[in-house]
Amino acid sequence: MTSEVTDKVRTRYAELVAKINDAQHRYYVDDAPTLSDAAYDELMHELEALELAQPELVSQDSPTQRVGAGDWLGFASVDHAERMLSLDNAFNDDQLAAWAVRVEKDAGAPVRYLCELKIDGLAVNLTYEKGRLTRGATRGDGRTGEDVTANVRRIAGIPHKLAGDNPPDLVEVRGEIYFPAQAFADLNAAQLAAGERTYVNPRNAASGSLRQKDPSITAKRALHLIVHGIGARTGFEPTSQSDAYAQLKSWGLPTSERWRVVDSLDEVKAYITNYAEHRHDLEHDIDGVVVKVDDVAEQVKLGATSRAPRWAIAFKYPPEEVNTKLLGIEVNVGRTGRVTPYAVLEPVFVGGVTVTSATLHNQQEVVRKGVRVGDTVVIRRAGDVIPEVLGPVEALRDGSEVVWQMPATCPSCGTKLAPSKEADVDLRCPNARYCRKQVIERIIYIGGRDGLDVEGMGEKAAIALVEGGVVTNEGDLFTLDEKLLSQSPFFLKKDGTLSTNAGKLLANLEKAKQQQLWRVVTSLSIRHVGPTAARALADHFNALEAVEGPAIASASLEQMSVVEDVGGTIAEAVREWFAEDWHREVVEKWRAAGVRMEQEPVADTGPKPLDGLTVVVTGTLEGHSRDEAGEALTALGAKVAGSVSKKTSFVVVGENAGSKLDKARSLGVPILDEPGFAVLLEQGPEAAKAYADANRETE
Ligand code: IVH
Repeated sequence: MTSEVTDKVRTRYAELVAKINDAQHRYYVDDAPTLSDAAYDELMHELEALELAQPELVSQDSPTQRVGAGDWLGFASVDHAERMLSLDNAFNDDQLAAWAVRVEKDAGAPVRYLCELKIDGLAVNLTYEKGRLTRGATRGDGRTGEDVTANVRRIAGIPHKLAGDNPPDLVEVRGEIYFPAQAFADLNAAQLAAGERTYVNPRNAASGSLRQKDPSITAKRALHLIVHGIGARTGFEPTSQSDAYAQLKSWGLPTSERWRVVDSLDEVKAYITNYAEHRHDLEHDIDGVVVKVDDVAEQVKLGATSRAPRWAIAFKYPPEEVNTKLLGIEVNVGRTGRVTPYAVLEPVFVGGVTVTSATLHNQQEVVRKGVRVGDTVVIRRAGDVIPEVLGPVEALRDGSEVVWQMPATCPSCGTKLAPSKEADVDLRCPNARYCRKQVIERIIYIGGRDGLDVEGMGEKAAIALVEGGVVTNEGDLFTLDEKLLSQSPFFLKKDGTLSTNAGKLLANLEKAKQQQLWRVVTSLSIRHVGPTAARALADHFNALEAVEGPAIASASLEQMSVVEDVGGTIAEAVREWFAEDWHREVVEKWRAAGVRMEQEPVADTGPKPLDGLTVVVTGTLEGHSRDEAGEALTALGAKVAGSVSKKTSFVVVGENAGSKLDKARSLGVPILDEPGFAVLLEQGPEAAKAYADANRETE
């Protein structure tokens, strides 16, 4: 159906073409995207819908008529022997199902699907002639790319010669170049230290690193390749995609270990769900899953449009990077007085949640990011990581943006802000004793999990206690009674009598007096003293104050320096804290109210067999509860950690272990099942390492 094209539609069409072309140029050529993937997809959809409804609109320079962009950084242009197509996208199950229905209809029978990860990197085309790597090219516009042969030759893992005696006369191998997540963080840290530009994300880092005029720079970057297809070929006729991967692997090319061939759409969906959950446990970014018809004869039968094959589709995960407006920058005051600026954002859905604010850490960070109030900014929220402002989209500035300045005074109490030490990047409100915001934050912390764990003493109660004048500061918490609480309407029922919650709060405060000593120490909100340092101090001195002998309050710097996990900074912070009169008053009030101030000495039995090890326990073990397993490990000197990193010595896995197991696999951390755990406890780390090596899964 072709209706008459109105001026309004024509203008919108031209606008869309211009916007998308500009975005493509900035993405492909400048490595500095102005649009988030989601915003880009939205524009592209609108354009496609317009063109579908009114085909007479379609112009030569429409982005639907080509793939990518074609302006190059001075690399020679090179034509691909076979065009590099793009992929159509599915954003939900319905779109995926619609694609599958069409595939099976056109194929005339149910098909087998190959599922693999959609790596967020940079597509390349490697040409092997008689087994020799003769050319490496970027995708470019799909027909013509940049000749980056010298650069790809310097990437570890890309063979210059195919293994085996029988290489084909010609094969174009397509794949994705990516920057591993950890290497990306290291690269940006190094770039920052050297005063060089940092990269917004691993994809841009991959692109920037590959397209270096000096290949020796490429050689220094940790680029990786995973192959995901073939183009032109002579003397190589795989019958299926999976067949092709097996052959590419045998030639020494880096194929993925994660592709699967499945028989049904339900299994495809299970694959998609699994990687949506484990997206952040991988060594590279992914933005979805690619589903391909496995059989090559069926691929040929299904064919392709000018843009993308009909036999493959990209199932896209919700974007983790989006653009939004920076409405303002405000500052927050924390429990130790630290004043942190944070971004107030136009609400935006990213990484599965609606984000309205994001920390900006300190004023230097605001300067470094170069964000101005009114800017369009790129927000990233990946997994459980807190949302981050990556930077402004400078190209979208219109001159109305305002450079932000850190306030000179505390937004809560008006006291002049100052760094606590000369070289400190953080500004603080020095009015620790009376600044209401600081007092509220400290009380919330005391009520929290690292503090005395007082149920019912969360944010609302803390605000009511302080703003209602029920307490002056945390020193008054343990002498609270019904009469005092009834001063604040928050603790009263409508009829004016005390609420049940108020009663519970008093009972919980009473119980909290018996909490372990380390919890009392963290509850003091001494700078740098979190649960780890507090435990170390408690277990070493066994008392906060003592009539005789050293205690935490009276220990000298030397006495503290021998405590493991307590460095000079912590020792000084502890000394400074106790030098303050009103701090000692808080401790005195707590002591008088019956808060625990000592503990039985922890028996010291000398070195232990698992000293120095960090172990993560995940999943359900049959023989132990998680707590028991942790206690068994700590009793033998190991530290028990909650998350897996390169520093983890072992990961103990029970039934239904999830992402931590995947992370351990990807980092090469030794994995122990339950019998392996027994080996660790009974025979020590060396035997356990041998056990883990012997039982390593082979794929
Ligand atoms: S297949 C003819 N497989 O995604 C099929 N592409 O959005 C062409 N990509 O241009 C691509 N991972 O650069 C394929 N496992 C994968 C992929 C993948 C990432 C990229 C590729 C492509 C783009 C399309």
